[in-house]
Amino acid sequence: MQPVALKPGIYWVGGIDWNLRYFHGYQTPRGTSYNAYLIVDEKIALVDTVKHYLFDEMLERISAVVDPAHIDYVVVNHVEMDHSGSVPNLMEVIPQAKIITSTKGKKGLERHYKREWDYVIVNSGEDIKLGSRTLKFVQTPMVHWPDSMVTYIPEEMLLLPNDAFGQHIASTERFDDELGWDIVKEEAAKYYANIVLPYGKQVMKALEVVDQLPIDMIAPSHGLIWRSYIKKLLQVYPKWAGNETERKALIVYDTMWGSTKEIALALANGLEDAGVPVTTRFLQTSHMSEIMSDVLESRAVLVGSSTLNNGMLPTVSGFLTYMKGLRPQKRIGLAFGSYGWGGQGAREVEEVLKSIQWEIPTDKINIQYIPDKDELLAVREKGKKLGKLILE
Ligand code: FEO
Repeated sequence: MQPVALKPGIYWVGGIDWNLRYFHGYQTPRGTSYNAYLIVDEKIALVDTVKHYLFDEMLERISAVVDPAHIDYVVVNHVEMDHSGSVPNLMEVIPQAKIITSTKGKKGLERHYKREWDYVIVNSGEDIKLGSRTLKFVQTPMVHWPDSMVTYIPEEMLLLPNDAFGQHIASTERFDDELGWDIVKEEAAKYYANIVLPYGKQVMKALEVVDQLPIDMIAPSHGLIWRSYIKKLLQVYPKWAGNETERKALIVYDTMWGSTKEIALALANGLEDAGVPVTTRFLQTSHMSEIMSDVLESRAVLVGSSTLNNGMLPTVSGFLTYMKGLRPQKRIGLAFGSYGWGGQGAREVEEVLKSIQWEIPTDKINIQYIPDKDELLAVREKGKKLGKLILE
């Protein structure tokens, strides 16, 4: 339970959630951390807290640096309970401390915890001097809640952006280079795809602000602290925010008796014939939150379902509902499936893909019972044509 120094007088004092495997619809096989940061100056500030059940862990880390009773300010960058959940317990220990937050942050805290606390409301561009260091605040509404803001310490070139740039990783390592770009980028992409993706426009605005700040460290509220890969991170984030994709295809499907699977494989062959890399995901074995990482970087997403009870399969419906909420844009879509007599499965898939304004260059593929050899050849040809379009 040791704190970790980021800079002289600035410490990570968060909590590590080794056992977390599910985060409101998002599977987190690597667990996560909730990062809180202690700044010790003439005044002492704690930026963000941890989920309620890790309060003791955070308090122990703080106590290894200072007597928690001496904390002057608690900055709440974001009200969601994985970061504000320990505020009530903490304020029992430090009732004299002031909570620094946005107007919406205050409203959110009041609705969540129904307590009377002493607040300092800050707006974008305002700052609070701690002594030799300054806390500057920038509102980042809808990245990813209305209350979201980031804290910046100019003297240290340190950005504390809360959820932005986060990753769900539980680890003893605290810095990006200790774990390596591949793992940290993979989890940052998954985090973006499952949490931040709907708010691309707002992320772009926030990135414009970040671009103007001298930064040599970005310490988010989940996962690893960025110090070595900031340049790479700031190259991929605008791409994700702008819905810029790779010339790749993703096939997502579920199947009752294997016919929809055969169509999926024929499409994959056709796409490969055209020279397009294809990822194929079976909804009985891949979780939708894993698949969202593929959606993030794929130009085309082909979705297949058998018809069951006059509709699509529940797994496909669940995936499409989840994906629709995350609002990926600028993709090419194709619906496909097999059916016995109604044929509504592929039709419903196509309706969803149209409703999210994806480009649908070819009509759905809907084959009765079991596709024959000629039908599969035609499907493969369709896949090849689509592949050529992806490469344009
Ligand atoms: Fe990590 Fe929006 O909470």
